[in-house]
Amino acid sequence: MDFMETKRRTNLTRQLLVVAGVTALLILIINWSNSTTTSLKFSQHEPGVTHVLVTGGAGYIGSHAALRLLKDSYRVTIVDNLSRGNLGAVKVLQSLYPEPGRLQFIYADLGDASVVDKIFKENAFDAVMHFAAVAYVGESTAEPLRYYHNITSNTLVVVKAMAAHGVKTLIYSSTCATYGEPEKMPITEVTPQVPINPYGKAKKMAEDMILDYSKTSDMAVMILRYFNVIGSDPEGRLGEAPRPELREQGRISGACFDAARGIIPGLKIRGTDYNTVDGTCVRDYIDVTDLIDAHVKALAHAKPNKVGIYNVGTGKGSSVNEFVAACKRATGVNIKVEYLSRRPGDYAEVYSDPSKILNELGWKAKYTNLEESLATAWRWQKEHRNGYNS
Ligand SMILES: NC(=O)c1ccc[n+]([C@@H]2O[C@H](COP(=O)([O-])OP(=O)(O)OC[C@H]3O[C@@H](n4cnc5c(N)ncnc54)[C@H](O)[C@@H]3O)[C@@H](O)[C@H]2O)c1
Repeated sequence: MDFMETKRRTNLTRQLLVVAGVTALLILIINWSNSTTTSLKFSQHEPGVTHVLVTGGAGYIGSHAALRLLKDSYRVTIVDNLSRGNLGAVKVLQSLYPEPGRLQFIYADLGDASVVDKIFKENAFDAVMHFAAVAYVGESTAEPLRYYHNITSNTLVVVKAMAAHGVKTLIYSSTCATYGEPEKMPITEVTPQVPINPYGKAKKMAEDMILDYSKTSDMAVMILRYFNVIGSDPEGRLGEAPRPELREQGRISGACFDAARGIIPGLKIRGTDYNTVDGTCVRDYIDVTDLIDAHVKALAHAKPNKVGIYNVGTGKGSSVNEFVAACKRATGVNIKVEYLSRRPGDYAEVYSDPSKILNELGWKAKYTNLEESLATAWRWQKEHRNGYNS
């Protein structure tokens, strides 16, 4: 190689290095400016944009809520400690809404008041949907303190942070478990709340705390008492994927699908001597898509100095036997059923009177066919044998 050739190659290498350096710098600048606009968007109120903090947004109901809010052009921050939820659900949401200022995920535990306070300080929330909670009746009887801490005490942390940082709209996830086992069906919002397990008691205590605080502030409060939630996103993007270790605690839909997939040998129905149509417990099953629609309507109707308390159910009860029959039809699998004695903390018959939410918010359940809701959920389950990891 002569001198001229060596010089030409050295120059070419230099030029390439300069181009590579400039490209890297540009990428850095673009990334930096993206992250700056992103964090600025979350940290400042923007006219015409409602920024909703979704606690527990990596979980079953919270992730479906985040999806609907994003679809409806809300700005969403999810706070979740992933103790029960799935990062996979957050990734699905991020892939659907990657634009700056649409969705951010903050990994944090709501039990840590200083961390929660910092989150509120650094973000300009307009409203909070507080879903995060441990939520298994059986587990609550075995670990009551965990439930009072996670539900009641953490709700106190969230409400205090809202008060300190001027966030004035709260949509609270409550439950029909706060009613206990009422003498009269259907359950209306004025049915006395006499919860019979720590889960229901912890939720009622959280409700009471929110209501007492609302009397001293101009906070807009909507308390939604859900009945039994089933189903999943009709477009198959999200589903219900509890941790394998929670299977035993699990809800009936999860257990049905696990049995249909052969992950567990069959279904255990606990209690056949209840005073119901066929001796098994009767519940009001509400599809998650309808439930989230109720949240969006609640948010739209929330007004300062006003409290709204609503049952969210279909108004129709189905027995566990009827549920299992629908699950067999939806999955096409002849699921094996074992009948056992009652589980402590369960109640015989629970179904809602949903007329108040219809009259005041214009909401009514649309997905009232058990088999259809289960078939939608089953499609996701079949394609995600290992939950969000597959
Ligand atoms: N699933 C139902 O049938 C039903 C019925 C009535 C009420 N609810 C209520 O709906 C809400 C959501 O329930 P779900 O079924 O989606 O449960 P889930 O377990 O799927 O989701 C709860 C989420 O909260 C998160 N979380 C729990 N503790 C937390 C903490 N300390 N800090 C941060 N994140 C935390 C979990 O990681 C999880 O992602 C709960 O408040 C529950 O009580 C559910």
